[in-house]
Amino acid sequence: MLLTHLSLTNFRNFARLDIDVPGGPVLLVGGNAQGKTSLLEAVYFLATFVSFHATNDRQLINFMAGREPLAVTRIVADFQYSDALPGPGESSQREHRLEVRLIQEANGFGNSPGLRKEILFDGVKRKTSEAIGNFNAVLFLPHMLRVVEGSPEERRRYLNLAMGQVLPHYARHLGEYARVLTQRNALLKQISERGGDPEQLNYWDEQLTAIGAQVIHARIRAIAELERQATRLHSQLTRGEERLRLAYQPSYDPLPTSPLQYSLPLDAAADRSGFTIDYIQQGFLESLKSVRNEEIARGMTTLGPHRDELRFLSNGIDLGVYGSRGQGRTAVLAMKLAEVAWMKEKSGQWPVLLLDEVLAELDPARRQDLLSNLLESEQSLLTTTDLDLFQADFVQRAKIWHIQAGRLLF
Ligand SMILES: Nc1ncnc2c1ncn2[C@@H]1O[C@H](COP(=O)(O)OP(=O)(O)OP(=O)(O)O)[C@@H](O)[C@H]1O
Ligand SMILES: [Mg+2]
Repeated sequence: MLLTHLSLTNFRNFARLDIDVPGGPVLLVGGNAQGKTSLLEAVYFLATFVSFHATNDRQLINFMAGREPLAVTRIVADFQYSDALPGPGESSQREHRLEVRLIQEANGFGNSPGLRKEILFDGVKRKTSEAIGNFNAVLFLPHMLRVVEGSPEERRRYLNLAMGQVLPHYARHLGEYARVLTQRNALLKQISERGGDPEQLNYWDEQLTAIGAQVIHARIRAIAELERQATRLHSQLTRGEERLRLAYQPSYDPLPTSPLQYSLPLDAAADRSGFTIDYIQQGFLESLKSVRNEEIARGMTTLGPHRDELRFLSNGIDLGVYGSRGQGRTAVLAMKLAEVAWMKEKSGQWPVLLLDEVLAELDPARRQDLLSNLLESEQSLLTTTDLDLFQADFVQRAKIWHIQAGRLLF
């Protein structure tokens, strides 16, 4: 897909931006604090409807505008699906418009002003779960290595952001799961602290396992598909010397383990592809029953997809524990490129690639690999403070935008 036009109003340090966006690579060049990352953040917002680094949507509203009683931040994008490829959904329409509005208004009671988020797809208001999946983007950030070396939460986040864009049901299930988990934890805490009938948990167990089974089932499939792409790309990046594997370790694992085993060894070949959602739910429910006393004692849910883990193995070695930095970087690059290839496979469209200062992190060989991959994709936006990091032929093929204080200079 191609982003053809972007318009921002009161988004971070962009009071107003209105720009036609070409296909191919676009290099956003500028000094520090000029708005490069903010522009990528705006585009990524259209794919996920969350910011990749703000903790609160309010932070996206331009400081000056935000002081007024009524402030409206707008991101509007025109985009089109490629001709040769079928677009997602039923419609054969190629051109679309996606608009996000963040509306901050004083509520008249002297409280802090309320914030409303509205999403319009082709002019019609949509819920987030309906709007997601129409416009896809993949984001490359500095410190990507955290996906390999960081906490399990970083890896779940990686999975959730990629899967949520192409599997709209998944995004909805995650939201429901989080709500049920909060309720169940509150009840566990209450029983733990003040006592009460543990049978009250039955209802929440049923809810948690019904939605949790959907999440686990979707992860089993998506990880297998991502692994296929990642292994292929990683083999290219390592010139065939290393073999990458993704080891999914669900907190509740539908694979039977022997009673003596706490969990399966990391490099065990584990085929979970045949399990149905019902089967997973039944097993999950039984496991929850067996840990009920422990959960009551701890006042929290200890089992379920919110605790799932995903490990990266290269030639059988866990990269998060034993990998060198270079190996980690190569694996993350393979994972990111796999995300791109997987999205294209699922939706029939290239996602827009967003790369924030990532070249500086890579050695020259990886840099070259990444740039040649970028040239294959339909559209990419890359930020840099230093054009010299890019090879001359790449710069020649790219469109260059200079950014200064929230404005584009040509
Ligand atoms: N809500 C906001 N309103 C106005 N300005 C903001 C808002 N949020 C952040 N800024 C400012 O916008 C500027 C641009 O930030 P941004 O992260 O996009 O810079 P950058 O060009 O990526 O810089 P760097 O090269 O340092 O990464 C910063 O000065 C930041 O303080
Ligand atoms: Mg930046």
